[in-house]
Amino acid sequence: MSKNQSAPNTKTARVPLIAGNWKMNLDHLQAIALVQKLAWSLKDVRHDFGAVEVAVFAPFTDLRSVQTLLAADKLSIRLGAQDVSPHESGAYTGDVAAQFLRKLDVNYVIVGHSERRHGHGESSETVAAKAKAVATHEMVPLICVGETAEDLAEHGAAAVALEQLEASLHLVPQGAEVVLAYEPVWAIGSGEAATTEQAEQVCAALRTRLSELRGEAEAARTRILYGGSVTSQNVAAFLRQPNIDGALVGGASLDSQEFSRIAQFKKHVTGA
Ligand code: PGA
Repeated sequence: MSKNQSAPNTKTARVPLIAGNWKMNLDHLQAIALVQKLAWSLKDVRHDFGAVEVAVFAPFTDLRSVQTLLAADKLSIRLGAQDVSPHESGAYTGDVAAQFLRKLDVNYVIVGHSERRHGHGESSETVAAKAKAVATHEMVPLICVGETAEDLAEHGAAAVALEQLEASLHLVPQGAEVVLAYEPVWAIGSGEAATTEQAEQVCAALRTRLSELRGEAEAARTRILYGGSVTSQNVAAFLRQPNIDGALVGGASLDSQEFSRIAQFKKHVTGA
C-alpha cells in the first residue's frame, strides 16, 4: 500500500480519544453507577487523561445526571451526546437542539452513526447540517462514516467512507475541530472487527481527503477513530496504526472494567 504523502505523520501530537457509545442502554441511575465505577477503575490505574482522553456518549435522558456527577466529583471524563437536531429551535417535536446540549456541558456529539443513517434514513446532507449545528455551538462533532458489507464487496473499503466524509463535512466551518470515526457497518456489534490493515488503509485515505478538503494542518491535527467490535483484546493493535487515533466503542463501553482496560491500551502489549 502506498504511503500517505499528503499529511505528515503527526500522530504523537494527537491525543487519543477512547469514546464509549452507550447507544440506547442505561437509564440515568444506571448511567451514574457506570460512570462512578468507570471513574474508580481509571483512578485505580492512575489513568492519565492528558495522555488518553476518555468520553462517554449517553442517552439524552442521562446527560444532566452524568454532567452533575462529573462536575461534583471533578472527573476528567468527557461528556458526549449521540445525536442532535440540525435546527436551532422551534416546532420540531422530539428533537434536541445543540444549544441545549451545550448548556449541559456536552463536549462531543456523534453525528451520522450508521444506526441513524440506516435506521432513520439520515442522508449525509442531514448529517452535515447536524455537524454544523454542533460546531456552531462550540462542541465537537464526531462524524461517523463507513461502508456496509455490500458496499465493501461492490466498491472496496474506502469509497463510501470518503464520499460520506465529503458530504457530511461541507457545512462545518473551516478550522472548527471535528473528530472522524471510521466504522464499517458490518463490524458494528458483530464481534467481527475490521483488520488493522483495512482500518488503517481507510483512516489514511480519510486523512488524505481531509487534507485536500481542509488543508494539511487541519488533516494533521484531526483525530480519526476506528469503531466496530473494539475490545481490550484488539484495541492496542488498532491504536498502533499511524492514522488511527482512538476508538469508538459500543458494546464494550457498557462494562466499566472492560472500557477502562480499553482506555489503558498503551499498557497492554498484545500480540494481536
Ligand atoms: P460496537 O459498536 O463496539 O458494539 O461494535 C460500535 C459503534 O456502533 O459505535
